[in-house]
Amino acid sequence: MRNDPRQYDELAHQWWDPRGHFVSLSWIARSRAEQIPNATRPGAVLVDVACGGGLLHPHLEGKGYTHVGVDLSEEGPKVARGHGVDHVVRGDINHIPLADGSADVVVAGQCLEHVADPYAVAVECCRILKPGGTFVLDTIADTALARLFIITIGENLPLPGMAPKGCHDHRLFVNPDRLAQACASAGVPLKLRGLFPSVLDFLGWFVYLRKEVRMRPVRATNVLYQAVGTKVA
Ligand SMILES: C[S@@+](CC[C@H](N)C(=O)[O-])C[C@H]1O[C@@H](n2cnc3c(N)ncnc32)[C@H](O)[C@@H]1O
Repeated sequence: MRNDPRQYDELAHQWWDPRGHFVSLSWIARSRAEQIPNATRPGAVLVDVACGGGLLHPHLEGKGYTHVGVDLSEEGPKVARGHGVDHVVRGDINHIPLADGSADVVVAGQCLEHVADPYAVAVECCRILKPGGTFVLDTIADTALARLFIITIGENLPLPGMAPKGCHDHRLFVNPDRLAQACASAGVPLKLRGLFPSVLDFLGWFVYLRKEVRMRPVRATNVLYQAVGTKVA
């Protein structure tokens, strides 16, 4: 079975492993955090939708948010709390258990491609965002090229740092135009750009010369892409 959510519990010990299955998520988390503005009020809340093991947390240091995670898995929230996430709610992002307008920032990193209706989940994210708040997301495009890179290559190469086999289902990959339309209709016009790992960094990381791989912005949004929007006041 593809996209089995139990995989995240079975592999929870790997969330922070620098050569483990989830390491590329930590590289993407850094890039995601660069899109998050500093808090503009004391007590500002950032909701990290499907927070997993809390990989975003170190990149929020100094930005001034209370970091609230939501995740369905049993183990992810424990790992996230152990790595500094302030509060983690165990819940389903199809129906985020938070009030309308309760978040100054909502982030949805690498999760929309794991749910049956990513457009409805994006609208849920917009619902919990305050007017003037920021929505940052990254996900995988519904293209044959994304399927090739993310599943055929990414899940099958016998190398460190590759995604767990079966972790993605290409039928759930997310159309960028449809996503932008859904968010615009929920009051959050998005700006999209593609992301691609630095090949030099990747080679360096592979031979232990680099600790991390930087994600580079690219024009093409047909594999991995990121989007940022502000909710209209
Ligand atoms: C690829 S991981 C991304 C985790 C994190 N956002 C990151 O980038 O490191 C996908 C996460 O989505 C969570 N997830 C999948 N379906 C979910 C749902 N319906 N509700 C809440 N969490 C879900 C999984 O438990 C897992 O932690």
